[in-house]
Amino acid sequence: MPPLVVVARSLPAAGLDLLRDRFDVASGLENVAGAAAIVTDASVPVDAELLDAAGPSLRVVANFAVGYDNIDLQACRERGVVVTNTPDVLTNATAELALALMLAAARRLGEAERIVRRGEWTGWEPEQLLGRELAGATVGIVGLGRIGSRVADLLEGFSPRLLYTSRRERPGAERRELDELVAESDFVTLHVPLSAETRHLVDSRLLALFKPGSILVNTARGGLVDTEALVRALRQGPLAAAGLDVYEHEPELPPELLELENVVLAPHIGSATRSARDAMARLVAENVIAVLEGREPPTPVP
Ligand code: NAP
Ligand code: GLV
Repeated sequence: MPPLVVVARSLPAAGLDLLRDRFDVASGLENVAGAAAIVTDASVPVDAELLDAAGPSLRVVANFAVGYDNIDLQACRERGVVVTNTPDVLTNATAELALALMLAAARRLGEAERIVRRGEWTGWEPEQLLGRELAGATVGIVGLGRIGSRVADLLEGFSPRLLYTSRRERPGAERRELDELVAESDFVTLHVPLSAETRHLVDSRLLALFKPGSILVNTARGGLVDTEALVRALRQGPLAAAGLDVYEHEPELPPELLELENVVLAPHIGSATRSARDAMARLVAENVIAVLEGREPPTPVP
């Protein structure tokens, strides 16, 4: 009998076909008993209970995402289960979305589109929907990893002043402590993983330090930001606007956020391009195949 691979939700054909060529593939976590591999994504919590439901046959949890805050790594380690993710192949797609949100929030595109769609646009107005320009702005990148660095590259044509937070020095940009970075930046874009250390990194204390009129973009994880404090900062300042792709309790969004005109909301689509999702799916399959064939997977989570 070929090993059983359980896909918790779904996987694009680019990866699913590779798995089906070699293994028994089932979908849905109700089929997890006896699985050798589970394919998860950022919306699937992987805890001790799920690992035990799979049982001792389980060898790998392959996350269809680069972030792995949904996975209890300690519980996996204790059971000898390898965890893999999908770095690099979604870096550009996610960085482009961060840029899109910066521009959309700065130029009030959501608000503008709603006016047009409601039939309320009465013609060109000298003072209507004035926004701000990204060119020449100070952009603070929180977490200069793969995606944060790609955002920095994509911003080059805007000739920004770039600031970043990092636990180490990088050439070509100015390193700052987080408090200083938010006080100096016109745009702040988040690219750190969610962990116990980074949960509510952006809380009411930090938001009070943001430069008046600045813009916050979050394509990393919703849990990095205290949503209630964010709503207050968007209503009363210092934030002029925000662009969000991720939320604390996805897919739930608080009504207060939905009511605000000065926030652009995307439904967690950072990696949602055909090429990125296919490459992620292939990488998921390559990780599963490697582990189940007794080889080192290409992208294990350390
Ligand atoms: P990465 O290359 O690991 O970069 C993250 C950077 O954050 C690291 O280089 C690290 O920089 C910094 N960092 C790590 N832990 C930190 C901590 N505790 N405190 C402060 N800084 C810390 O990851 P990536 O590939 O760029 O992805 C970043 C995150 O984006 C993912 O974890 C995921 O949550 C999110 N994401 C979202 C989407 C989406 O669909 N919206 C798509 C892809 C990724 P230093 O070591 O220099 O401090
Ligand atoms: C998506 O959110 C990812 O971490 O890949």
